[in-house]
Amino acid sequence: MSVYECSEHMDNFLRELPKCEHHVHLEGTLEPSLLFNLAKRNNITLPDHFPPTIEDCAVRYNNFADLQDFLDHYYIGMSVLIQENDFYDLAMEYFTKAHADGCLHSEVFFDPQGHVERGISIDTVVEGFNRACKKANELFGTTNKLIMCLLRHLPAESGLKTIQDAHKYYESGILHGLGLDSSEKPFPPHLFTECYQAVKDKFPDVGLTAHAGEEGDHSFVSHSLDLLKVSRIDHGVNSQHSDELLARLAANQTMLSLCPLSNVKLQVVKDVRELPIELFFNKNVPFSINSDDPAYFGGYILDNYRAVHTRFGFTGEQWSKIAMNGINGSWCDEARKQELR
Ligand code: HPA
Ligand code: ZN
Repeated sequence: MSVYECSEHMDNFLRELPKCEHHVHLEGTLEPSLLFNLAKRNNITLPDHFPPTIEDCAVRYNNFADLQDFLDHYYIGMSVLIQENDFYDLAMEYFTKAHADGCLHSEVFFDPQGHVERGISIDTVVEGFNRACKKANELFGTTNKLIMCLLRHLPAESGLKTIQDAHKYYESGILHGLGLDSSEKPFPPHLFTECYQAVKDKFPDVGLTAHAGEEGDHSFVSHSLDLLKVSRIDHGVNSQHSDELLARLAANQTMLSLCPLSNVKLQVVKDVRELPIELFFNKNVPFSINSDDPAYFGGYILDNYRAVHTRFGFTGEQWSKIAMNGINGSWCDEARKQELR
């Protein structure tokens, strides 16, 4: 349902825009090619119902019924990640693609509990990802930050234990943020108040964010702000249904990390055109545009920018404002923000 053309000139403009990504799950960047390679390298037998070839994956990935249907598949996919090098290779593939798309700064999620519960130590995960962050900076000059997410389908006690296990990484500055992901509706924000408080008390400079308002209603967004004290919201699409919340997001310049292609693949909307992107822009609610789980949803950051452009036809000036909001909402220091601008 493209309404506007993305001319070669516009495509170049979007590639050259100083883009920042704030919503991408490293485990969601696991392309089927790497997935099958790692399964072989680590002698992992995937379950019978997992698509057996790259082509079958493409078909399956086009048919997710909803968030839970995707997550069931995503957790099987990540079971091929075993050694530190696997985590390194995974992140390097993503950083290489993001760089090619003209993304200058990435703040990336990962789900340690999804690995620890399979017997992989958090050190293996964090060391592999951190090594890739450093290598990408060396090779491409891009900057990258790691955000640890808690799985909301697991109890808060497991989240508190994970925070304890990650203590040294927050202390040393290897981890920069705390997020909350997985099945949203059955697990509202209030369940994790203590987890967020624990990080905020010990590490007041760590960035706090949470998935909210993807499938849950707008109260999930306001409760994340009130109870978890987050400074950013991941998705937040359903904020559109509360004028009071929109005014609050605009007044505080709280950024939403939107993921347009994800919302289509997970049946939040039928087409990118239905997303409230124009409403957010006109109400002065800052947002960034992100890929979420690009290996599963058919597009990296630039594909998401293109999808938005072909539906909303923003002018160069409007796009520059969107990019500037992304820089302002990033968790890098002021000197790096100046460079990005
Ligand atoms: N939503 C919630 N949890 C997730 C997602 C998502 O889109 N991707 C990976 N974990
Ligand atoms: Zn997400």
